[in-house]
Amino acid sequence: MKYDALFARTGGFLHGGDYNPEQWLDRPDILEEDIRMMKKAHVNVATLGVFSWSVYEPVEGEYHFEWLKEIADRLYENGIYFILATPSGARPAWMDERYPEVMRTTVKRVKNLHGQRHNHCITSPKYRALVREMDERLAKEFGSHPGLLAWHISNELGGECACPLCEKKFQAYLEQKFDGDIEALNKAWWTTFWSHRYNRFDQIEIPASHGEKSIMGLNLEWRRFTSENTIDFMNQEIEVLRALTPDVPITTNFMHSYPLLDYNRMAKPLDFVSWDSYPCYNNNYESLAKTSFDNALDHITMRSFKKDKPFLVMESVPDLVNWHDYNHAKRPGVHFITAMQSIACGSDSVMYFQWRKSRGSFEQYHGAVVDHLGRDDTRTFKAVTELGAALEKIKEAAGSVCKSSTAILYDWDSRWALDDAAAFSKKTKNYVKTVGSFLNICLKNGVEADVISSVEPLDDYQVVVAPMLYLLQPHTAERLKQFVERGGQLIATYITGYVDENTLCYLGGFPGDGLKDLFGIYVEEIDTLYPKQANGVRFTDGTVWKAADYCEVIRLNGAQVLASYTDDFYAEEPAVTMKQTGRGTAYYIAARCEEAANAAVLRRAWDAAGIARKALPAGVEYHRRYKEHTAYDFYLNYNSAPVQIQMEAAYSLLDDKEVSGEITIPALGVMVCRVQL
Ligand code: GAL
Repeated sequence: MKYDALFARTGGFLHGGDYNPEQWLDRPDILEEDIRMMKKAHVNVATLGVFSWSVYEPVEGEYHFEWLKEIADRLYENGIYFILATPSGARPAWMDERYPEVMRTTVKRVKNLHGQRHNHCITSPKYRALVREMDERLAKEFGSHPGLLAWHISNELGGECACPLCEKKFQAYLEQKFDGDIEALNKAWWTTFWSHRYNRFDQIEIPASHGEKSIMGLNLEWRRFTSENTIDFMNQEIEVLRALTPDVPITTNFMHSYPLLDYNRMAKPLDFVSWDSYPCYNNNYESLAKTSFDNALDHITMRSFKKDKPFLVMESVPDLVNWHDYNHAKRPGVHFITAMQSIACGSDSVMYFQWRKSRGSFEQYHGAVVDHLGRDDTRTFKAVTELGAALEKIKEAAGSVCKSSTAILYDWDSRWALDDAAAFSKKTKNYVKTVGSFLNICLKNGVEADVISSVEPLDDYQVVVAPMLYLLQPHTAERLKQFVERGGQLIATYITGYVDENTLCYLGGFPGDGLKDLFGIYVEEIDTLYPKQANGVRFTDGTVWKAADYCEVIRLNGAQVLASYTDDFYAEEPAVTMKQTGRGTAYYIAARCEEAANAAVLRRAWDAAGIARKALPAGVEYHRRYKEHTAYDFYLNYNSAPVQIQMEAAYSLLDDKEVSGEITIPALGVMVCRVQL
C-alpha cells in the first residue's frame, strides 16, 4: 500500500543514489552544479543523510538541519525526490568520548576505539536512546516534506558485539527460549559432551575462538540472537518513524548474501526491500554472463522476500569500486546491461553509491557518477545519462512484478549450522554457491524461480528445490510432504535433513524428520572428496556426469533409481532417485553433480509439472514482469557477439516499434518488450 504510493509519486523507475552534500557545504557552486548535472543525467532521486550525524549534531544537543532542508527544497524544486537515511551507521566523536558504552566489543572481548562505521553496540540503551532522539527530530523536520519518498534505516546494518550488555541480553534470550529450564538447554545442545554442562543461564558466554566454540547449538543461537538483536535495533528506529510519519514507507539496505543477518526475518518489518549490488564485473576469471547470472541470485533473493512488490537497488556503481581486490573499470556497455538486469529481476530502481566522489578519506577513489574531474562528458557520466533516458522509455513497467513457478530454498539457519559443522570439508561446503548453481539452471532454461526460506508458503510453486537443507526447522519436513502429496515436484540434494533446529542429528537415517520416507532413501555414509578426486553418475539413459566434493552412499527405501555411481566402493549404488507420493514426486540427488546432471533432474520435474522452458542462446538472460493484463519481457545478451532469439509479437519499448519472429539482439544488447496477455 505504502509502496504503491511511492510509485504514484515518481511515475516510473527511480534513478539516482547516495548524495553527500554535507561534504560540500563550503562549495555552493558545486552544489548548484550537482542539480544541473542530476537533471542532465535523468536523476529523480537522491539518498540523503546516510552518514550525517556529526553535521546534524556537531556537539551534543546542538542540532542543525537547515542545510539539509535547503538541499531537499532545491532538489524537489528540480523534480528530484529524496530518500532520507537515519544516521545510526556512524557516530560523531563526542558521543564515543562521552558514552563509551556505545562502542562495540569484538568476540575476542576487545573494546573497539572510536572510528569507522557500524561500530556500535547493538544493545546499548544509551545508543538506542540517542538514535531515537535523532530519528524523532528527523521525522519532525522532514516527515512532511513533499520530496520525501521513503526512510532508509541506518546503512547496511551488520556485525556483532560481545560486550557485557550484549552477553546479558543473550543469556536472557536463551532463558526465554528454553523456558527457564537449563536442563532443556543442556539436552538440546548435548553439553554432556566434553563436560560442558551449564548450571545456570548466566554462566553462558558468547562463543569465541579463545573460549567456548565447540557447542554447535550455542554457536547457532548466537547467530540467531545477533540477527534478532539487530532486527530489534532496526525495529526501534522503524517504530519511531512509523509513529510520526505513518505514510512514509521504510526500508534498509541489505548487503548481498550477508552471512550474519537472517534477511528473511529482517525483511518482514520493512515496507519494501532494498540492497547494494557490487559484483566484480569484467574480471579475468569468468565471463560477464557468469558474473551476471551469479548476481541474479542476489537480485532474486531480494525480490523473493516480498514477492508482491518490486525491490530497489539502493546502491550500485556506474564504474569501479575501491574495495575489490582489483578495482577494474566497467567496460563500455556493461553498466547498461547490468543495470537493466536489476530491473529485469524486479527492481524499480537503479541507484548509485555515489553521486559525487568525495575529495578525501576512505572512499575518495570509489566510483561515482561525477568524478573529481567534475565534467558531464565523461564516459561514466554519459553511460549514466543513457541509462536514465532508457529508464524513462520503459517507465510503464515500473511497479510490475515477476511470477515464479519454481522455488529454491535458502535458509540462513541451514547456512549457519552447516558452515559451523565440524564435518565434511571446511573448503567445499559452499552452501550459497550451491543454491546459486540451481538458480543458474533455471536462468539458462528461461524458467522464473524465486529464492525463499523453508518457512515460507509453497502454495504458489509447482517445483521446489532444496539444496543442502542441512537443518530442518520444525514442520519443514511435514510441509514438504504436503507439497509433494498435492502434486509438487520436490528436489533435494546430499546433506539434507541431518540436524534439527538445535543442531542435534536425527537418529535412524538422514534425511530426518520423516523425509527418508518421502524421498524413499536413507543415507548410510557420506564421502567427502579431495579436490581433483571425482566420481561419476550414470543415468538410465546412459549419460554420465561428473560428481565431486560430496557423494552420499544411500540405500533405497522405496525410491526408484534414476542414476548410479560409476566408481569406487559405491559404484553401481544409487546416486539419483525419485519417489512418487500422492500426486507429486520427490527426487534426491545424493552427490554434488555437475550442472548437466542437476539440469536433467530439473527438466524432468518441470516436464512433470507442465512448466514450459524457453530456448535461450547461451549467455542470454530472460525475465518477465507482470502488471495486470500486460507483461514486460526482458532479454539481456551478455555475449560479445549478437544473438538471435524467437519472439512472440510484442512492442519493443527501447526501440519504439513492433517486433516478432526472429530478432537479433546486439552484443551487450537489451530488449524490453510489452506483451499484451
Ligand atoms: C556500501 C556502503 C556505502 C559505500 C559503498 C562502497 O557497502 O553502504 O556507504 O561504502 O559500500 O562500495
